[in-house]
Amino acid sequence: MTLNQTVAVFGAYGHTGRFVVSELVRRGWRPIISGRDASKLNALGAAYPGLDVRPASVDDPDSLDRALAGAAAVINCAGPFASTTAPVIEAALRARIPYLDVAAELEANLDTFKHYAERARDAGIVIVPAMAFFGGLGDLLATAAMGDWAAADEICIAYGLSSWKPTPGTRAAGQVSRQRRDGRRLVFTNGQMAFRSDAAPIAEWKFPAPLGTQPVVAEFTMADTVTIARHLKTPEIRSYMTVAAVKDLMEPDASPPVAVEENGRSAQTFLVEVVARSGGNERRASASGQDIYAISAPLVVEALRRVVSGLVHGTGVLTAGEAFDARDFLESLRQEHLALEMP
Ligand SMILES: NC(=O)c1ccc[n+]([C@@H]2O[C@H](COP(=O)([O-])OP(=O)(O)OC[C@H]3O[C@@H](n4cnc5c(N)ncnc54)[C@H](OP(=O)(O)O)[C@@H]3O)[C@@H](O)[C@H]2O)c1
Repeated sequence: MTLNQTVAVFGAYGHTGRFVVSELVRRGWRPIISGRDASKLNALGAAYPGLDVRPASVDDPDSLDRALAGAAAVINCAGPFASTTAPVIEAALRARIPYLDVAAELEANLDTFKHYAERARDAGIVIVPAMAFFGGLGDLLATAAMGDWAAADEICIAYGLSSWKPTPGTRAAGQVSRQRRDGRRLVFTNGQMAFRSDAAPIAEWKFPAPLGTQPVVAEFTMADTVTIARHLKTPEIRSYMTVAAVKDLMEPDASPPVAVEENGRSAQTFLVEVVARSGGNERRASASGQDIYAISAPLVVEALRRVVSGLVHGTGVLTAGEAFDARDFLESLRQEHLALEMP
């Protein structure tokens, strides 16, 4: 049977959407490019003659149905996801096709599990939220690090970003998330999410060479905490982010990423290290590469390939680590996209 390689991308002309469209085309998929602004879509379409351009709005279910018609799956890159996730998932459920997104808003990620786990499972549909740098990569690394361990005393995720020039979408998503939690922070402790109102502590993390020891903001909870907590047994998930990256992010006039390569990648580098500890033993896994927005494209496109080919464990709302063979998934990105260390 030949695979339907048509895939709808909602939010196709955003910074991340463009990386996703480019990666899809490179890997032989036929993206339907969709989003709310017809003129921005047409401008993107001009760079990809022959692609289907289908404007759609989250306020107009019929337009979403038209955008998804004939697609094997939909990838949602339009954030803040608080506004886009539910309407696009509803359209995917009506079309009976898988849904993947790159959401890094904790509240939106949690909502996807809360509202759609049962409905998607009943419908036999696969939904993979946060299938990107935040949410997907850390979960795959944690799952690979855990290996045959049934549980861990704690799982730590340290993000070593050289800098972080946020896109308008990232800044807006952060603002929406902060509002939704009344300016408080979220942490995962004693087996559950808890709010904190004090300032996040500063600590040090010893990254593998060449990064070495770096000052980090502790309790920097990202989407990986939501995805890891869904399926790996541990009472404590601790996250750390390099201070340099947090400073960039907090700049009131934070500038967007600047491309230094023809493919749009910025000079930003990343190293994500996950440590699982159990009874005095520890297991580490890490991945490094360039540009957290750019890497989200091969992550979500590889997930798409596996979902559409049936290389996925179950149906319903699944995290990357639950849905896929984590080691095999990461290995598939080793040559072109990631440098990896796994136990
Ligand atoms: N998990 C991760 O690691 C990861 C990685 C990359 C991106 N992200 C997330 O993905 C989102 C997009 O990021 P980006 O870098 O692509 O930002 P961006 O360049 O600012 O693009 C945002 C896109 O979302 C669209 N959009 C926003 N609200 C919309 C709505 N209500 N209806 C339809 N379209 C809407 C925008 O369309 P208009 O131009 O018409 O406003 C634009 O196409 C952000 O939330 C970001 O946090 C997460």
